[in-house]
Amino acid sequence: MKILIAGAFGNFGREILRAAVAAGHKVTAADKVVRPVDFGGFTTRTIDVQDRHGLKGIAKGMDIVISNVGLTTPHKSLSHEDIDFEGNRNLLAEARMAGVKRFIYISLFRADEAKKNNPLLYARHRFEKELIESAVPYLIYRPTGYFHDLANMFRPMVEKGTGRLLFNARALINVVDTREFATYIIANLKAGQGVVDIGGFETYSYKDIGRMFFQAAGIKVHFKRIPALFMYLQTWYARLRKTGQHPSLAYTRWALTHDLVSQHIIGTRPLEEYIKSLYP
Ligand SMILES: NC(=O)c1ccc[n+]([C@@H]2O[C@H](COP(=O)([O-])OP(=O)(O)OC[C@H]3O[C@@H](n4cnc5c(N)ncnc54)[C@H](OP(=O)(O)O)[C@@H]3O)[C@@H](O)[C@H]2O)c1
Repeated sequence: MKILIAGAFGNFGREILRAAVAAGHKVTAADKVVRPVDFGGFTTRTIDVQDRHGLKGIAKGMDIVISNVGLTTPHKSLSHEDIDFEGNRNLLAEARMAGVKRFIYISLFRADEAKKNNPLLYARHRFEKELIESAVPYLIYRPTGYFHDLANMFRPMVEKGTGRLLFNARALINVVDTREFATYIIANLKAGQGVVDIGGFETYSYKDIGRMFFQAAGIKVHFKRIPALFMYLQTWYARLRKTGQHPSLAYTRWALTHDLVSQHIIGTRPLEEYIKSLYP
């Protein structure tokens, strides 16, 4: 099949790209920046999903469009509304005009519950709604989180020698390995239209996960407990000062206080194996 992958050089995008190429599809990898990968067999295109004119014709001749486009780092002048909602909407408009057979969107777990005070999740919720209401056949994936998200969270703590956990937070999560998730997406390109939650086969608390990181690094575990109120104030301050960090702080606060456990499970790679691979 002819597949356009947008956000193809992101952390997860490049795993989708790898899986799609390995499965023999004819792939166009589009992203804001084309980054080097350790394999070939695809064509590239530089895009900015905010530039509607520049996107013209991008989906022409494609069977499937997969969007991994998202704003995942704090930004002072760009909002989640700009990229996650408007940007993906521009891409969807092209997919509609080209008459693609399917638009696959990588969203976030529990996006349908998003409130406006959680702009990162809310923008994804808005785009999901737009996609569902469009005439384009869709498949929305809502992963709980990725192994590498946990690495981004806990590795800096390991380096500092102190873990930081929310006081009283007992939230659980079953994260997925991105390579296994990407393989699943490509193996299920023809799955029925709908919204699919995605989680890994192991469920842990953040304390259990933090402990695994410290143990793998061979460092004695030491956790500091942060009151939830502190994080609330931090989020509020970031919003007041317009530092650009408010959406990611609001999302993190929400994620740490809500169970992110999908009943639909994929993959077989243990989280501990991944963590140990980071500390050879
Ligand atoms: N990692 C997570 O936190 C997590 C967990 C569960 C689900 N997800 C879902 O998976 C998606 C991707 O996650 P990821 O970890 O792969 O994030 P990522 O590495 O940041 O990938 C997002 C991609 O979108 C691209 N992009 C951003 N703005 C763009 C624009 N204006 N035009 C074109 N491309 C643009 C980014 O390019 P640049 O890097 O050059 O900006 C990047 O390649 C997220 O949006 C989210 O919905 C993420």
